[in-house]
Amino acid sequence: MFPATAHEHVVMRRGLRTGLPVIVAVHSTALGQAIGGCRLAHYPDWRDGLTDALRLSAAMSDKCALAGLPNGGGKTVVALPPGHVPDAATRRSLLHDVGDVIAALDGTYATGPDVGTGPDDMTTIAERTPHVFCRPVSAGGSGDSSQHTAVGVLAALHALCAERFGSAELSQRSFAVLGLGRVGGHVLHLLAEAGATLVVSDVDEEKRALADRYGATWTSPQDCLTSDVDVLVPAALGGVLTPQSVPTLRCAAIAGPANNQLDAPGTADPLHERGIRWAPDIVVSAGGIIHATAVELHHETSAQAATRVRGIAGTLTDILRTARASAATPAAAARSQAEQRIQLGLPEAATAHQGW
Ligand code: PHE
Repeated sequence: MFPATAHEHVVMRRGLRTGLPVIVAVHSTALGQAIGGCRLAHYPDWRDGLTDALRLSAAMSDKCALAGLPNGGGKTVVALPPGHVPDAATRRSLLHDVGDVIAALDGTYATGPDVGTGPDDMTTIAERTPHVFCRPVSAGGSGDSSQHTAVGVLAALHALCAERFGSAELSQRSFAVLGLGRVGGHVLHLLAEAGATLVVSDVDEEKRALADRYGATWTSPQDCLTSDVDVLVPAALGGVLTPQSVPTLRCAAIAGPANNQLDAPGTADPLHERGIRWAPDIVVSAGGIIHATAVELHHETSAQAATRVRGIAGTLTDILRTARASAATPAAAARSQAEQRIQLGLPEAATAHQGW
């Protein structure tokens, strides 16, 4: 059977300036403007970038719905050929290429930072379109979203520990943080501050200094993934939870900001069978979009937005309890709650409890 088209609008345009493929996938605008970051990453083929954009944008729809935002999901992917590192001038041109594609979408989609891009890049994109979140505060935006995403991750870890171990206290627990990029680095800082026991890793050896600074044990990514800790915190690229990796895990629970942690939806089942509690990444990683939309669309202060970000704890607790009550996986419980909100299609229904 021919599968139904899930996405509303997908564009692939060869950048006018750079010739590089710029892909924007708008998954859904049922709840409002689609939002999702701009990823600059290497792919063996641009079609792999397209596949990634389709998956990531669909996840953004669920992420927004579960966060109670009046927004849908989208994503931008610029597929860089293997080994291609754009110099400063090419990068600027590339971001202008991205801005042109987004401008042509007439406000149905707005972008933000993601893997490979940051607030300064948003300023460059904004030279071509106003539909950009997270420019630096000095440039009129809400700034780097990564620390807010990390605050949301901490809220999720509190909720997960309360559910799984009967106490939200993090100082009694051990964590393996896999990936010390912008968000992972902040998460490490917050966990160290909370007095947690930490194992960390990154593909970049230079991040070892961070481990030393926070008194964390440095390991290889492989050993970090399978380390004997209470909670695994995936904070790098997606796809780390696979039918091959799940049997090797020694953690009791998983919650982290990496997008698309499961290689396929079905991988939630072996995790569940092993009794490993997985907090869906679409819930855990929503702090960045919650903060950015609260400040930039709803004109709240950063402190008010931070309170909303900490609301991730309540959302996750609700999903974990619903899952347990119905013997479903947390992934399935999250999916069905998101689906219900999107099907309703009414921003008011999603946001009534947010007081906007
Ligand atoms: N990387 C963010 C995410 O995937 C993207 C984003 C942040 C988009 C802030 C808009 C605003 O959630």
